[in-house]
Amino acid sequence: MPNVGVVGIQWGDEGKGKIIDMLSNYADVIVRFQGGANAGHTIVVGDKKVILHLLPSGVLHDKKYCIIANGVVLDPEVFEKEVQELKNLGYLKDDKRLMVSSLTHIIMPYHKKLDALKEAKGTTKKIGTTGRGIGPAYEDKVSRMGIRVIDLLDKKTFTEKVKQNLELKNFIIKKYYKDEGFKTRDITKAYGAYRPVLKKYATDTAHFLHTSIEQGKKILFEGAQGTYLDVDHGTYPFVTSSNTVSGNIATGSGVPPTSINYILGICKAYTTRVGEGPFPTELNDETGERLRASGGEFGATTGRPRRCGWFDAVIVKRALKINGITGLALMKLDVLDEFDTIKICNKYKIGGRYYDRPPVSIADYERCEPQYEEMEGWKTTIRDVKKYDDLPVNAKKYLARIEELIGVKIAIISVGPDRESTLVLENPFLK
Ligand code: GDP
Ligand code: IMO
Ligand code: MG
Repeated sequence: MPNVGVVGIQWGDEGKGKIIDMLSNYADVIVRFQGGANAGHTIVVGDKKVILHLLPSGVLHDKKYCIIANGVVLDPEVFEKEVQELKNLGYLKDDKRLMVSSLTHIIMPYHKKLDALKEAKGTTKKIGTTGRGIGPAYEDKVSRMGIRVIDLLDKKTFTEKVKQNLELKNFIIKKYYKDEGFKTRDITKAYGAYRPVLKKYATDTAHFLHTSIEQGKKILFEGAQGTYLDVDHGTYPFVTSSNTVSGNIATGSGVPPTSINYILGICKAYTTRVGEGPFPTELNDETGERLRASGGEFGATTGRPRRCGWFDAVIVKRALKINGITGLALMKLDVLDEFDTIKICNKYKIGGRYYDRPPVSIADYERCEPQYEEMEGWKTTIRDVKKYDDLPVNAKKYLARIEELIGVKIAIISVGPDRESTLVLENPFLK
């Protein structure tokens, strides 16, 4: 298939970075279409680990084009730093291969401050955000006060927009939050320094993608976060501020929905979540601790310990429908190697009734009791397994049961963080 979308199926951190890096081998263009530096996508190459927050996970491959599209909110400070770090590591040699949409909205210093102040104040529920200014930046985009890359590139427009914004932002910061405001001059000076670097990469990325499609190039769309962090379909208000589902690939990058041929869902063999909000299969016990330790479940962006629990077929099944998943990549199967028994949640009990789809209200999420079936573990190390046939019988049974419950085929099985520990049953680009 020429164009493939990759999205998170749970609450993020499913292992998207690893799979996108792997699939980049088969793509010509890799596109980030939503979110910002709240993402933390880990790629392991040999004994090196690279964590990307903003740049597409295809950047470790020469001869590929990487795009930050219009749906992303871009922090210029993170952008400059990440570009420089990658160059220092010997990547990103050709500047023409990285592009940023001129329409991409910019994260401003007041966005980060407002993100932190809102979380600290406690008037609204604490979300446990990454503190990267994501929510306030998307708020400004939707309220038509946002500042885009194209605005930053023009000194006069940028100064005017900062001035207009600060009138309101300073009022809120000073009067409501009783904190220190910003000066236009300080911001225009600091952000003026990013003008040359952004000028180098800014372009009409939608046009580039249209031309690439016409030329039959292969495009890989890289989702960030996960379906249950989606602002519409997630566990609202405990979500991020963008649409993380496959439907946003089109709006977030300017390609028509009809140009996307395969949607690959990325899903852990168990479940994790960072930040606040409902999590039906969460284990606040020794088993949860074991999953965290075995899976190295600490946030790639904030370092926070991730909450851990068993595989939840109820949320996964729903996410597959929302995203129109063609195939699933089941990640971190090796993390379950040492467990005697492994549980799968196959339905919820809420107020004496059973459900095989997630509730709509947060209150119902809070009182839902996950119902489990138990399977025998395989108690062997599977990291070195290279073929599906060589997996232990009980691991195969676990995969088969998951497929049966969710009704979608498992296309990729990941048994370790590195590129080699990947069993590809169906390559989306070669289908
Ligand atoms: P992303 O945000 O979806 O890209 O995922 P993260 O990078 O935040 O978190 C996934 C973590 O799991 C990273 O540390 C990866 O290196 C690691 N990882 C990915 N696949 C596997 C796997 O199959 N097994 C193990 N043990 N670790 C994996
Ligand atoms: P990747 O792409 C996991 C969570 C935060 C918080 C909520 C809102 O690595 O999977 P935000 O800063 O976006 O306003 O925070 O969303 N969150 C993530 N959790 N993985 C991510 O990205 C996340 N990006 C945001 O922890 O609960
Ligand atoms: Mg992550």
